[in-house]
Amino acid sequence: MAHIIFRSFFLADVVVLLLVLLSPPFAAAQLKTGYYASICPNLETIIRSSVKQSMAQSQIAGPAALRLFFHDCAVRGCDASVMIVNSNGDDEWHNPDDQSLKPDGFQTILAAKAAVDSDPQCRYKVSCADILALAAREAVSQSGGPYYQVELGRYDGRVSTKSSVVLPHADFNLDQLNAFFSGLGLSQTDMIALSGGHTLGAADCPFFQSRIGTDPSMDSAFASQLRTTCAGQTFAFLDAATPAGFDNSYYKNLQTGRGLLGSDQVLYTDQRSRGTVNYYATNQGTFFYDFANAMTKLGRVGVKTAANGEIRRDCRTPN
Ligand code: HEM
Repeated sequence: MAHIIFRSFFLADVVVLLLVLLSPPFAAAQLKTGYYASICPNLETIIRSSVKQSMAQSQIAGPAALRLFFHDCAVRGCDASVMIVNSNGDDEWHNPDDQSLKPDGFQTILAAKAAVDSDPQCRYKVSCADILALAAREAVSQSGGPYYQVELGRYDGRVSTKSSVVLPHADFNLDQLNAFFSGLGLSQTDMIALSGGHTLGAADCPFFQSRIGTDPSMDSAFASQLRTTCAGQTFAFLDAATPAGFDNSYYKNLQTGRGLLGSDQVLYTDQRSRGTVNYYATNQGTFFYDFANAMTKLGRVGVKTAANGEIRRDCRTPN
């Protein structure tokens, strides 16, 4: 008898433990790749061509849309809160950490939303949060990066405040980067793979100028090149080798002291993350696989449901 009771307790414990282990952090259970299959069957095609058009009009559109997705998910979860414009100026965009988000990224999302809503079947049925996730995937794949299935079914949040913005900074060390990403339920490997997003786009000179001539981990020829660049223009490419191509040259740059931000270069300087950098530098396929996987995990952060969210009609204002 005691044996049977013990067994059933044990089995119940195992079931509970399995449920805990199998459920991802934060509410992500309702996300699925085919979410809009019957609601808006052409969704992915519509977004693909809209983003393609935006990228043809602006070189920054793709990188800015990818960064926007990260800044959305990292603050209040992937709920398009980053898109909200409040008339009193108290919104995420007014936080200094979001001021460098380029208008081209917001435009890309608004154009995609307009394209989706111009299809009568889809009108007001697709969340801005899901459009952000799909646009980020398009930015990556249309730049030569991996094409991966995007989980969908997010609802949009109703709140955006300046004070809620907490993001990693360009001078963060490995411990600070890990602490930030583990707060999102992401591992060091996820963080290193996602940092590979810096294979696209640019950074304004103030984000890295203090490293020039002072940071021994920066290659000296690269330093003088950057000094010249910033004397003539306001920004430098995050991956000077192939700024518009999504590839693993970001990691190759780190191996030669050509990482632009301190938070990039530290991934190679610190022994604890160098192995992963070296691995991605020689295995682009693994980088692509891990990047897609980490984007999927990022896309699950703090997801809203019908109970605490809505499908916003205008991405800039709650309904
Ligand atoms: C690891 C911590 C991170 C830090 C400290 C960081 C910091 C920065 C900074 C300072 C810039 C330059 C902004 C400007 O001058 O306009 C930038 C740009 C960018 N970031 Fe990050 N970032 C991080 C992670 C990420 C992640 C996870 C992604 C996406 C997967 C991402 C994607 C981008 C892109 C694509 C740009 C270029 C944007 C453009 O050209 O408009 N970053 N980042």
